[in-house]
This record gives sequence, C-alpha cells and structure tokens, in this order.
Amino acid sequence: MNILVTGGAGFIGSHTVVALAEAGFTPIILDDFSNSEAGVIDGLESILGFRPVTYTENCHNPETLRRIFRDEKIQGIIHFAAFKAVGESMQKPLEYYDNNVGALIVLLKTMQECHIPHLIFSSSCTVYGEPDALPVTEKTPVKPAFSVYGNTKQIGEEILHDTVSAGIPLKIIALRYFNPIGAHPSAAIGELPRGVPNNLVPFITQTAAGLRTSLTVFGDDYPTPDGTCIRDYIHVLDLAEAHVAALSHLMKTTASSYYDIFNIGTGQGVSVMELIKSFERVTGVSLNYSIGPRRSGDVTAVYAGVEKSEKVLGWKATRSMDQALVDAWRWQVKG
Ligand code: UFG
Repeated sequence: MNILVTGGAGFIGSHTVVALAEAGFTPIILDDFSNSEAGVIDGLESILGFRPVTYTENCHNPETLRRIFRDEKIQGIIHFAAFKAVGESMQKPLEYYDNNVGALIVLLKTMQECHIPHLIFSSSCTVYGEPDALPVTEKTPVKPAFSVYGNTKQIGEEILHDTVSAGIPLKIIALRYFNPIGAHPSAAIGELPRGVPNNLVPFITQTAAGLRTSLTVFGDDYPTPDGTCIRDYIHVLDLAEAHVAALSHLMKTTASSYYDIFNIGTGQGVSVMELIKSFERVTGVSLNYSIGPRRSGDVTAVYAGVEKSEKVLGWKATRSMDQALVDAWRWQVKG
C-alpha cells in the first residue's frame, strides 16, 4: 500500500519512512528539501535496501499533488512538511501560516477531490501550553498558543476537526508529539539541525563533540524538584512507529468521516538536569554546561498521558531514554 510522506526527508519523517517500510507499506517521499539534506535519501537506501521514490516539490500546488496521487496510486498520507522553529515563527508569521496552514488546506481539498481518505497530521504538545495538571491527556484543555508555530498546530487541528464534522469523507488522526530525540541505531539517519540547534539533545551532542563550547541550561529556578524544566523525551523510532499504528487504525475504521487526536510520548517526565546526567552516564563524556536565564516561552513541565494511544492504537513507546541518547550520540560522532 503506497503512503505519501510529506516532509519525508526530515527528522521524524525519515524515521517514519523506515517504520512504514518495515511494516510492509511502500513510502513515497515528497519533500522540498528546504530544511533537510539530499543525503537523507542515501541513508534511507542503506537502511531499507532500496531507494525510496522521492519527489522534490512542495505541498502548495494541487496539480503536483494530483499528479503524485495518481502516478503513485497513493492510499494514505502522513503530513510532516511544515516549519518548526518557534523563535523563527515569530519573525516570519506569514511564511509559517502559509506553509503550515495554507498547504494543509490545499492537501485536504486535493485529497477530497482524489478520494484519498487517510491522513495523519503532525501536531504538538505545544497545544497544551502551561498545563494546570499533569500528565496531560487528550481531554486537557488547549491553551492559547505562545508562538505562531504553536498557533499553526492549533489551527491545523481545528481545520481537521471542522472538515470531518462537516461529513467530508476523510479519516484523520492528529498526533500530538512530545519531545522526539535519538536517531536510527545504524546512524544512517538522524537529526540534522541547521545552524545553532534550538533543541536540547542536538545542542548537547554538538557540545560533547566539541563543536560548541558550552551548553546553557535555560533556568534552574522553576518549581520542579531540581529547578529545571520537565519534558517527555521519546525515541524518534517509537514516535515513527506511532504513525504506522495510527495509519493501521484508520484503515480499519469503518466510519467514512473520522477524526481523533492522540498524545505520543512516553508518559515519563524528565528534567533538563536529569537528561544531562543520563547523557554523561551512558556516553562516558562529561559535558561542559552552565546555568543561564530562562528562555522566553518555555513551559515549566509537560508530559503525556498515554492511556488513550495504548488502548485505541495499541501503541506505546518501548525504547528507553538511555537508548535514545546513545543513538543520538552515535549519530553525532559519525558526523
Ligand atoms: N534547553 C536548555 N538549553 C538548550 C536547549 C534547551 O536548557 O540549549 C531546555 C529548554 O529550556 C527546555 C528543554 O531543554 O526546558 C527542552 O527544550 P527543547 O528546545 O529541546 O524542546 P521544547 O520542549 O522547548 O520544544 C519542543 C519542540 C517545539 C515545540 C515545543 C512545545 O521542539 O517544536 O516542544 O512544547 F513547540
């Protein structure tokens, strides 16, 4: 069964291409390589033993989508293609709304026209903002977004909800990702941040590798046991496999219009200091870090309630954070 993976050369997208192929699907990549490297396809080839069909185009043009849907006999879509830098989204709101919301509308209209029913959408735990209670479940109220990026995910979810509520025959799942880390254990694919990494783990691995002099821990005066922020770090391959579970669930669903939302995390909250200590322990590398001021927009703590995804999708994370850190480090060292 042929599945179109938009943004399939990105961090989560490329690992999902592997998970799809391992589950017997045929992944077809659509990526404009605006935030990914051509070498990712070589890495995928070395893991899969075949070169995935790849279209170097974006999702804004319905004619492109129609052609690929037809030529590749696409039966489902996993839509990763989006901009994801929180800070940048505040400087470039129109680019973010155009790419993350505008292209989603084009995709949905073209799916409806071409009778392609199955869609998995990348959402984010950012929709919960600073939650009042932990863990957050899918019933936890969504809070006003802190950033344009976060708002594009909330608007995306609303568009999907409204589309399905109108009875349009599409079956859709939005996955709210927590913090993906790690890499494929082969080190053939991994996270490829451009410039200075925003995210904690690539910053740690680059610092440990000597590419950066020091890591700044953004604040140790939060109301948490060690004063640093708490997140739910999930191995990117576990996250990738959640997409396969969600797609399989959609394919079994008999309703012609369907929409649901799932948290995709481990259920474990881990502080920045705990993660740093784990990294040092599993790699044997001591990390140069110092405590700095808080980063604006960071929430104190968020981690996932995972009961719903276990019960409905039959999916749960199986890999440890230690394993994810070892894999991230192996990927960094391989350079
Ligand atoms: N952190 C540091 N130093 C760094 C980088 C990060 O201390 O150099 C801390 C942050 O303050 C935070 C934690 O590490 O407490 C995790 O930060 P990340 O940037 O890795 O992840 P975030 O949880 O901030 O961001 C993630 C996604 C975003 C999404 C956000 C929603 O990367 O796309 O969750 O909560 F919007």
